[in-house]
Amino acid sequence: MKKKILITTAIDYTNDVIHVGHAYEKILADCIARYERLRLGKEAVYYTTGTDEHGTTNQKAAEERGLSPMDHVTDISQENRKQIDALNISYDRFIRTTDADHKKFSAEFFEKSLKNGDIYKDKYAGFYCEGCEAHKTLTELNEYGQCFVHPTRKIQRLDEENYFFKWSEYEDFLKEKISSDELRMRPQGKKAEMLAFLEHGLRDITVTRPKYKVSWGITAPNDEEQVIHVWFDALINYLTEGSQKGFWDEDTKIVHFVGKDIARWHTLLWPAMLESAGYRLPDEVYVHGFINLEGQKISKSLGNVIRPTDLVAQFGVDSVRYFLLKYGPITEDSVFSLKQIKEVYNGELANGLGNTISRVAALAQKSGFDFPVGAENVDWQGALFEPLKEYRVDKVLQSIWILLADLDKHINKNEPWAIKTEEKLREVLTHEVSELRKVAKYIKPFIPDTAQKIEQQFGKVKITAGEMLFPRLD
Ligand code: MSP
Repeated sequence: MKKKILITTAIDYTNDVIHVGHAYEKILADCIARYERLRLGKEAVYYTTGTDEHGTTNQKAAEERGLSPMDHVTDISQENRKQIDALNISYDRFIRTTDADHKKFSAEFFEKSLKNGDIYKDKYAGFYCEGCEAHKTLTELNEYGQCFVHPTRKIQRLDEENYFFKWSEYEDFLKEKISSDELRMRPQGKKAEMLAFLEHGLRDITVTRPKYKVSWGITAPNDEEQVIHVWFDALINYLTEGSQKGFWDEDTKIVHFVGKDIARWHTLLWPAMLESAGYRLPDEVYVHGFINLEGQKISKSLGNVIRPTDLVAQFGVDSVRYFLLKYGPITEDSVFSLKQIKEVYNGELANGLGNTISRVAALAQKSGFDFPVGAENVDWQGALFEPLKEYRVDKVLQSIWILLADLDKHINKNEPWAIKTEEKLREVLTHEVSELRKVAKYIKPFIPDTAQKIEQQFGKVKITAGEMLFPRLD
């Protein structure tokens, strides 16, 4: 078993501030990082997230705001970080692709691939979608000549001289790594999807753009007139930080969390790049679905963007984390509405968790008994956490809430308020307090602030009633 784990999320573009869809992935990866810290120890885990700042869409966004591209990306990156901090994301590094160490590392990586003979100069004449930051063939556009993923964006026609990466030469290599599960894809179905894509064959891909189009980009080490293409540059962010911190070695399990729209870059391009430059591959890529707001894509043009900070202000950080971890697009797209969050809040947090805590605390206080602390040890490798091997955070939450429901039944069945003998009352309450102390530990990776509050309240010999953790919302 590997001793360390590197957990990464996609780094978000900076054309605009992130919304709840981007935030989902950060919460998911955060939950796994927190769990692994409990299981393996703090030092064994490294978690990175950040911003991808060399996309061409930043140019226009900066112009609209009357800012230079660099000032614009700096501002949005700071905003994004605030959004992520509001969600209590325990990243070890928030990397920016404009950071000096990353720029240096990217250029060195490019150079390695160049030296291996995998990068060559050629002409590109064709289409480009700025939303995907990718070249497109006619078959990748709809009948109106628009990108399937970004139909509101105007497709560009490019006629440029670029450097190309010999992606096509890595087809067999990729097939072998993916079929053998040396490069694991989760959920399982993604493996077949990526292998099917490989069957169509890979075309070499441009890995630079002319500097006059992305003036603040990373200069290609072999050509002053060119900058490294945003995807080639962005993928390297994982290695920039991972290798500097000793988390890109054979002792480390490397896991990337990404959305379904960018799975190919991570499962097909990134491993080929790593092989070309002489680095080990990641172990796993976890691909989640999309959050749709009341059935619609979340987008600026539809005017339905919801920021994480708005949700946190309305429901509190742990309610947002809980909702997204339990009902988010872990395997398939998920629908999301404020009404639904409120229902889950009232039903599962105010009622399921909060109410049970209040009941037990009130009964424990009234009894005047001592409840010695310390017997509740958690087996982080135990059956309860088994689904986390497949990153199924939703399933673990389901099981914990079943424990809470059982506890509630236990209270109703035993009616501690009516028990006459001290011995029986002590037995019933000791069980209930102990169960809640365990739950407080189990929920640590998911809703850490709440876990801490419960531990403060129940971590003492004398338990007293406290404030309501999740007051009902009308
Ligand atoms: N910059 C690239 C990633 C480079 S990683 C080396 C990018 N950025 S993004 O801002 O467009 O998306 C960042 C992540 O957020 C991606 O994993 C993407 O799938 C995810 N999501 C964007 N919208 C989303 C939803 N509506 N729902 C869930 N995830 C979503 O791609």
